Amino acid sequence: MKHLITPNDLSDKEVEELFEDARIFQDLRSNNILEGKLVVTLFFESSTRTRSSFEIAAKRLGAEVVNLEVQTSSTNKGETVEDTVANLNAMKPDAIIIRHKDCGLPASLKTYVDCPIINAGDGKNAHPTQALLDLFTIDQHFEGNIQGKNILIVGDIVNSRVATSNLELLPRFGLNPILVSPPRFQSNSSFRNATHIKEVIDDADIIMSLRVQHERHEVNISKEEQEREKEEYVRDYCITKELVGDRDFLLLHPGPVNRNIDITDEMLNDPRSKVLKQVENGVAIRMAVLKKFILQKENIENKRIKVKSSKGFSLIELIFAIAVIAVIASVAIPKLMGVNSKAKTSTVNGDISTIISSVQSYHMIHKKVDKISDSVTLNPTVWSIADKEVIFKENDKECVKIAVSDSQLTVTIDQASGDVCSELYNNGVRNEVFALN
Ligand code: MLT
Repeated sequence: MKHLITPNDLSDKEVEELFEDARIFQDLRSNNILEGKLVVTLFFESSTRTRSSFEIAAKRLGAEVVNLEVQTSSTNKGETVEDTVANLNAMKPDAIIIRHKDCGLPASLKTYVDCPIINAGDGKNAHPTQALLDLFTIDQHFEGNIQGKNILIVGDIVNSRVATSNLELLPRFGLNPILVSPPRFQSNSSFRNATHIKEVIDDADIIMSLRVQHERHEVNISKEEQEREKEEYVRDYCITKELVGDRDFLLLHPGPVNRNIDITDEMLNDPRSKVLKQVENGVAIRMAVLKKFILQKENIENKRIKVKSSKGFSLIELIFAIAVIAVIASVAIPKLMGVNSKAKTSTVNGDISTIISSVQSYHMIHKKVDKISDSVTLNPTVWSIADKEVIFKENDKECVKIAVSDSQLTVTIDQASGDVCSELYNNGVRNEVFALN
């Protein structure tokens, strides 16, 4: 069982695969890949973005979400977090998303569960999905040319889990962090350090501003001293128009932003600020993360798991059946270039709507159409369902059509769609006919 505790739980390849999925999910309002799944969120620390982002992501994938209200849960009656999690696990969720102030707590829960633990932030230790969405936003902005780009990480670095996870992830993809903070917020790290932002501003391709993490400070100074520290901080570290001028860079912040302390109002409205884009990307990234971690057990060969869909069919069986369709099609099609090749008959279980929904799920999970058209821009998310037909379109042209009659399912991959299928489906229409029972 794989859990997501820190970015190092993912290989570079897995990060790239998550980004591929996130790009598709960005266009997608909703689908049913995780239909019948249950996600539990357990936030022992405050959250606006991360919790709602996970919840929206899960719901967009068709999963049910239960948010445990920790203020009214039994941890208030003396139950340990481990016992709370073990009890929740007994109710068979498909993932538990947890945020807690204690560093290392999510990792320590692995032995209490049969489902993936997704760390939504543990103290100053890690916030993997934030780092993923930050890297995704940077990659998107620079259209993949991120090697050697300098990122200034500005603020309370030593107490920030966003900094920790970004410092773990970004250098793996060729980014150079430069840490800018007052000495009291500096961390022990081998990355380049600066005490004054002016020293390094000219090197910045990206500026990531961080909030001062007051909740992790021991307050043993007077109110006056706190006020003075705040004024000094604003003077030296607030991202202002005056400081950055017309320089070309990308401005990020994980939120919540303390306006005019971390970043001025003016700079938050500046086109260089992509703070809301980060939030938008966060949903797509978390959809990709939930898909990956929840479906990890359900690879197509794994027959041990039988998840019955609400319509009474095994989802795995249906996805497996669609996979068989696709495998037959992808092996046979190159040999069958030509008009209306011979039909084959196979068997698919399910009623029409279940099959249609499995086709959509299959399509989203395996990106079958995406795969055969690497050279063209594909919008695989557009389909219509009318008169017992599911039509996948790219650039307004049909590329795959699935017709369903009472007794047959016909998959048609149509060369008339132009570029989409040209590599594999030259000259003609390919039909596969499947009997339904
Ligand atoms: C976090 O949970 O770490 C936030 O996204 C950043 C912050 O609280 O400053």
